[in-house]
Amino acid sequence: MVSPIQPEPFRIRMVEPVRVPNEEEREEALKKAHYNMFGLASKDIYIDLLTDSGTGAMSKYQWAALMCGDEAYAGADSFFALKEAVKDVLGFDYVIPTHQGRAAENVIFGTLVKKGDIVPFNMPFDTTRAHIFNNGATPVDCVIDEAFDPESDHPFKGNVDINKLEKVIIEHRDSIPLIMVTVTNNSGGGQPVSLKNLQEVSAVAKKYNIPFFIDAARMAENAYFIKMREKEYASWSLADILKAMMDTADGISVSCKKDPLVNIGGMICCRTEEMYHTLLPRVILFEGFATYGGLAGRDLEALAVGLREMTDEQYMAHRIAQVRYLGELLEEGGVPFVKPTGGHAIFIDAAAFFPHIPQEYFPADVLSIEVYREGAIRGIGLGALAFGTKDEKTGELKLPKLELYRLAINRRTYTNSHLEYVAKKIIDVYKRRDQVRYGLKVKYAPPVEGIHHFLAHLEPFNL
Ligand code: F0G
Repeated sequence: MVSPIQPEPFRIRMVEPVRVPNEEEREEALKKAHYNMFGLASKDIYIDLLTDSGTGAMSKYQWAALMCGDEAYAGADSFFALKEAVKDVLGFDYVIPTHQGRAAENVIFGTLVKKGDIVPFNMPFDTTRAHIFNNGATPVDCVIDEAFDPESDHPFKGNVDINKLEKVIIEHRDSIPLIMVTVTNNSGGGQPVSLKNLQEVSAVAKKYNIPFFIDAARMAENAYFIKMREKEYASWSLADILKAMMDTADGISVSCKKDPLVNIGGMICCRTEEMYHTLLPRVILFEGFATYGGLAGRDLEALAVGLREMTDEQYMAHRIAQVRYLGELLEEGGVPFVKPTGGHAIFIDAAAFFPHIPQEYFPADVLSIEVYREGAIRGIGLGALAFGTKDEKTGELKLPKLELYRLAINRRTYTNSHLEYVAKKIIDVYKRRDQVRYGLKVKYAPPVEGIHHFLAHLEPFNL
């Protein structure tokens, strides 16, 4: 059953023409891309759901704010506009701009983590995980078991299992520099974390005197799910729930290309002057001065406005309903995906979609190729190619528990009829799924752990 329509709380006054490439052009584009979605050119795509990162539409208020950018190297007005928005919306006293989320990760993990350390998470996303690996440390998933069951309708599948967390802490007491929780849990289907769970993690972190950080890329979507699903907060405003989430943490790492509604930008926010000064040297080395961190003044202005817009209740109600709508259309066609629908994307269960393709032959990435072939739609595989790890002793690929294919919905960008087209094309692939009888081999992958999927060259072979 499809829910009642939730109309857009905006109108569109600027359009970006897109075209549908024909079948021949798509086949050619796939070859040129080495069958990797990251290798496709935007001009060869009709609907691009590769990511919700930096792909949204800015509001007229954000475009107007761009014109007010102060480009002073140090102490720009635009930095203070951002600082004020951070204090108002998130409650933190200290903010460090960075050029995007992974730059914030470079600063946090490069400063706080040393070789041999363990970083407990619910689940980290790809670059977060890669930064931990590249500092010689290991992230440990402490998410609840329901996260690995695509059919489970647990309302907060991003939650941390507190027993798992305490066990990891007790086992590795002196080698845990921080605990991090990703909201919403992108690796596990865009699933939210409850406020109660954040408070519990925060209490555990305090008990063991370990800093607690939130990866807050999709914090406002998470706040909306708390409002919808955690009874005590049903009457709270989104803004108040978001502040309460932030109150649990010592700091946050943010890709502002997601919920904060900008095309580029990131930041670290923290509570103490001590943490701020601990992190700053690496900002100067890799990003820029403390008050611009790799961004132009105008970017800081757009971000300050975006931070305030992300808690608009009508905007968020529409956004979450739009993602749910795509899920409901796919459900009608019998397509298996992670339930309940997450915040920013639909995650199709590629293992259930193509049960005849073994996971080591990358069924999620086969699905991304087939969906592109069918409708010039780009999604992304988030399975063995993105999250597999090499066993240090045997060199064998250790397979992740989930094999997902993600369709990320760009903010304020596509209409519901675009999504109807997407659903139709995916259902068409589902109908012919038994005839898809090939797997993928990796012909080239970069020698850096955790980033294979971005740069891999793939080759189809018949099963
Ligand atoms: N944390 C989370 C939860 C993310 O989803 C991402 C990026 C990052 C950190 C890194 O941020 O891209 O600004 O450097 N996720 C994107 C995605 C790219 O497609 O989900 P970034």
